[in-house]
Amino acid sequence: MLITLSGVLSADQIAEARRLAGALDWRDGTETAGPTARQVKRNEQADLTSSAGLKLKQLLQEAVEKHPVLKAAAQPRRFSPLMVSRTGPGGGYGRHVDNAFMGHGDRRVRTDLSFTLFLADPATYEGGELAVDTAAGEHVAKPAAGDLVLYPSTTLHEVRPVISGERLVAVGWIESAVRDAAAREILFDLENLRASLAAQHSPQSPEMLTLAKSISNLLRLWGDS
Ligand code: NI
Repeated sequence: MLITLSGVLSADQIAEARRLAGALDWRDGTETAGPTARQVKRNEQADLTSSAGLKLKQLLQEAVEKHPVLKAAAQPRRFSPLMVSRTGPGGGYGRHVDNAFMGHGDRRVRTDLSFTLFLADPATYEGGELAVDTAAGEHVAKPAAGDLVLYPSTTLHEVRPVISGERLVAVGWIESAVRDAAAREILFDLENLRASLAAQHSPQSPEMLTLAKSISNLLRLWGDS
């Protein structure tokens, strides 16, 4: 399942994120790529250890982690630390699959889902689309600033070459409490059903209670402990 979440960042948050990004130091993105991906990765990654970097990371991470639709779709157990990357003319990231695990020790995350949070206005750069191989064909995304594309980490994907301007994004990975993608999709459908039924039924109605019970019990069946 691949979904685009609109407006994960408000206009104010986008402006603040860009302002902070302007104050960051950047280094070659190949330093954080796996051995295969290194050969096709041509971008720059922000140093997020500076004070502007920490502020930016906190701003973005909070917005992503509290997003209700992302929670329902991903059933997150853990998030990897975010990375912020920029890609200028001639840059891109050829077809690759993300590493199965990110980080070390307690911070090690199995990558079930990947996301890209777009920070630049799509009219300001040419190229730079995120293209993800899906069973239904290639899905090509270049959404508005503040939008997030969530897709399975199991897929081959690429960032098409940037022709002009600058692509600015945050990327991250999620370890889901529900490892099986098909099970996650069923839970996502039920969570969406719960949200729409909540408009017509009280939380204590038999319909809502039964749905809540079913969602909980499926999580018990399918969730990792
Ligand atoms: Ni990737």
